[in-house]
Amino acid sequence: MSDVPEPTRRPQWTALENHRRDTLPRPDLRELFDTDPSRAERYVVRVGDLRLDYSKHLVDDETLALLRELAEATDVFGLRDAMFRGERINTTEDRAVLHTALRAPRDAVIEVDGENVVPAVHAVLDRMADFAGRVRSGEWTGHTGKRIRNVVNIGIGGSDLGPAMAYEALRAYTDRSLTLRFVSNVDGADLHEATRDLDPAETLFIVASKTFTTIETITNATSARSWLLDALGDEKAVARHFVALSTNAGKVTDFGIDTANMFEFWDWVGGRYSFDSAIGLSLMIAIGPDRFREMLDGFRIVDEHFVNAPAEANAPLLMGLLGIWYNNFLGAQSHAVLPYSHYLSKFTAYLQQLDMESNGKSVDRQGRPATWQTGPVVWGTPGTNGQHAYYQLIHQGTKLIPADLIGFARPVDGLSGELAAQHDLLMANLFAQGQALAFGKTAEEVRAEGVPEEQVPHRTFRGNHPTTTILATELTPSVLGQLIALYEHKVFVQGAVWNIDSFDQWGVELGKVLAKRVEPALTQGADVPGLDPSTAALVAAYRERRK
Ligand code: F6P
Repeated sequence: MSDVPEPTRRPQWTALENHRRDTLPRPDLRELFDTDPSRAERYVVRVGDLRLDYSKHLVDDETLALLRELAEATDVFGLRDAMFRGERINTTEDRAVLHTALRAPRDAVIEVDGENVVPAVHAVLDRMADFAGRVRSGEWTGHTGKRIRNVVNIGIGGSDLGPAMAYEALRAYTDRSLTLRFVSNVDGADLHEATRDLDPAETLFIVASKTFTTIETITNATSARSWLLDALGDEKAVARHFVALSTNAGKVTDFGIDTANMFEFWDWVGGRYSFDSAIGLSLMIAIGPDRFREMLDGFRIVDEHFVNAPAEANAPLLMGLLGIWYNNFLGAQSHAVLPYSHYLSKFTAYLQQLDMESNGKSVDRQGRPATWQTGPVVWGTPGTNGQHAYYQLIHQGTKLIPADLIGFARPVDGLSGELAAQHDLLMANLFAQGQALAFGKTAEEVRAEGVPEEQVPHRTFRGNHPTTTILATELTPSVLGQLIALYEHKVFVQGAVWNIDSFDQWGVELGKVLAKRVEPALTQGADVPGLDPSTAALVAAYRERRK
């Protein structure tokens, strides 16, 4: 493995650097479209219901060919095949990376250490479907016999962001008689606000934690149990009001949840890739098992595309490579994801963990320092709101910020009349922003409007801001699955090119360890060895004010 060259030492990397130098200061979108208007049709890939337009990128055929050569040289597709085969490509944790098995068809065979994991995946899905059905129908009641009306998912990171995001995304498909809430923050206010107006007798807690050791989750789950028992006064109530989603049966039992009420997943599912495992139970209760399976089918459409589509038409490959062009050759530091859908309000937050926890690395797979840029800062909120907040900086600031604009041809079912008609205005904004970002407004155009000369520089838009426009027909469960898988594989592609392990997350450990060490200093004034002078002074100031 140590003979794997660093990506920057590859001739394909140098070729891209030379290509960038030849096109300096930067390729220009007006020029690119003038020379080749057909790029509007040629630079489009389709996968499932998604139409990805990448014509407004600072690339031409040569750039794309050179990027594909880099992907080939770094063996992106070889690593992809190893992942799908169940090889232990997460080398620092010595684990397979098989979130794709979570959406494999029943008759698929995917082996980890010689054992086909697909039957177990479907066995859990079937148990989830049975349980979700019983909660939805009212057959599963609380301890006092009352119907469950509220479901509170307690989890953090990958055990929260996926179901919380998808619940918002698929609201139109949810059973509106159920209240779903998501508690993640160890700040007691989160659980307080989530439960203050709920009847404990009608509330089901889903404790979601891959490891079942995460302090935030275990603390919140313990407080939730006290809240329940204070009201119902009987330990036996726990069995009707708590279920667990985890890989760790021992810890689940220690917590007091019967493993009969545990929905399992496996160490080959990374936390941030776990949303379509048992971690999706709260969503399944909200939208029903059939819709959940439609979502899994959506994931699978993109998995199959990623495996089978040729490099030129491979959507995740293209998205990954475009990101590499900006990140490593044009100096971009961040990537904006801007959905033009209210229902996707949590989508970018979900992608932040997916992307930044995966590719926020500074050593390569061989443990050598990565002297090249790795994962970008991912950020964004729904587009129209962003337009009145930070788009100014994208349009006229000094930074290069590639962005994804995501929109839908139809509003979701359930919107009608004037509200449905607003959809055209929403999408007009998306298309207008894509155009304004790409082509801007020249000084001549501004002058032609009669703008006084001293104002011309202020009203000129340089343009040349790259965007991908992802258009789908409607935000359905399948389309949501397609979108998530698209980004999962995009992140994979980038990690492969950068030669980093996208599936570990050692970077979150140090803070966790220190928090455990600092806590006694806050609660008991204990002398904490190893506190630096600044932190020690902060702890003292805190204790002084806490009195
Ligand atoms: O942030 C670190 C992390 O391990 C994530 O990868 C994971 O999604 C999150 O913590 C929660 O972990 P768990 O599901 O084990 O509680």
